[in-house]
Amino acid sequence: MTLQRPIRALLLEGIHPGARDVLAAEGVSVTLMDKSPPKADLPKLVKEYDVLGIRSKTQLTKDVLDAATDLIAIGAFCIGTNQIDLVKANANGVPVFNAPLSNTRSVAELIIAEVVMLSRQLGDRSREVHLGQWNKRAVGCREIRGKTLGIVGYGHIGSQVGVLAEAMGMRVAFYDIATRLPMGNNKPAPSLADLLGQSDFVTLHVPATAQTRHMIGASEIAQMRSGSYLLNASRGDVVVIDQLAGALQSGHLAGAAVDVYPEEPEANGTGFVSDLQNLNNVILTPHIGGSTEEAQEAIGREVSTALAKFLTSGTTSSAVNFPHVDQPLLHGKHRILNVHRNVPGVMSDITRIISDQKANIFGQVLVTDPAIGYLVMDLDQEVSSEVCGQIATLPTSIRTRRLEDR
Ligand code: NAI
Repeated sequence: MTLQRPIRALLLEGIHPGARDVLAAEGVSVTLMDKSPPKADLPKLVKEYDVLGIRSKTQLTKDVLDAATDLIAIGAFCIGTNQIDLVKANANGVPVFNAPLSNTRSVAELIIAEVVMLSRQLGDRSREVHLGQWNKRAVGCREIRGKTLGIVGYGHIGSQVGVLAEAMGMRVAFYDIATRLPMGNNKPAPSLADLLGQSDFVTLHVPATAQTRHMIGASEIAQMRSGSYLLNASRGDVVVIDQLAGALQSGHLAGAAVDVYPEEPEANGTGFVSDLQNLNNVILTPHIGGSTEEAQEAIGREVSTALAKFLTSGTTSSAVNFPHVDQPLLHGKHRILNVHRNVPGVMSDITRIISDQKANIFGQVLVTDPAIGYLVMDLDQEVSSEVCGQIATLPTSIRTRRLEDR
């Protein structure tokens, strides 16, 4: 497949208009839609586009991806990519780009706010005053200065929380299965048990994995200090909810802030029930850790910039399902991008085409994964169109594109 026209992008689900601007600046023709179309309409719609931008509601299943015959890239304008059949997208030669960093700060700020709220029982006091109850008290309400915050999972969010907490005068310790560079005076803990035992507040920032599922249950909570607090804005399955509720009811924990749940409603307004409801000093929020206007804008920018880089240079270094290539453009040379099935003989077929055309390769990178190979090749202008056309017709080729053809 070669393109001889402007690239057409469809951005669904009300993606921030900043994303359109980034793509339009590269000559992409962008169509914006507020919603995700009905499932049945998707296969017909996606046929018309080279780039798709979605958020969490549009399901890009195997059938939808197979219908998208012109598709060259997908932008997931969110963090999760469960809504996309990543294996199928990879097999079809389509890289998927998401926005892992854009809402880091939003989550970190929420956690800092909640540490103060828990320490001062602000949720309860606010509710009481709304109900007309005046309950001015200092007992059990403390400053956070000098207290220890224990961070489980010291990645993007965890380390940002550590920086902010230290600025508030807290001592910060963290536990991570990987070796992480401590920020400021943050201190690594030798084990989860050690971290739980030394912390006044424990905040969870781990991914959803087999190891993190139910990593905080009754026995871990028992290792936490009496009167300490637990915060979870990572994934719902990380905490055993009824065991946390038990520890709050018994008074072993003085409070909790929970943003994520094992089962969450799919849409706003529907009912929600949890064992954590109606307990003292428990802040419950509807998975809003990353939900800020700044994060939405940053997501639009992060994903559209990755897409634009891919469209203009073939760079895939931030793709979630694709071999990573980041090769600087060579001035005056023409670049061919070829995604092929990872089987023996592909490179010798391509080399034959190149030598038949008497072409000179100025730069070339091939990176493979188990299913596909991704070749980025820079040639002289005179021969690149013919070479590209011939490579595209090889039976092993999945997607072939000459950058200058758009
Ligand atoms: P990250 O990948 O940058 O950091 C995760 C850290 O956890 C890594 O350092 C990793 O080594 C560590 N880790 C993994 N398994 C561990 C284990 N068993 N014990 C200790 N450490 C472990 O991820 P990031 O961006 O910091 O996100 C963290 C979590 O926050 C994710 O679960 C993500 O889904 C969630 N999140 C929630 C949001 C919300 O709205 N509440 C918004 C954004 C992210």
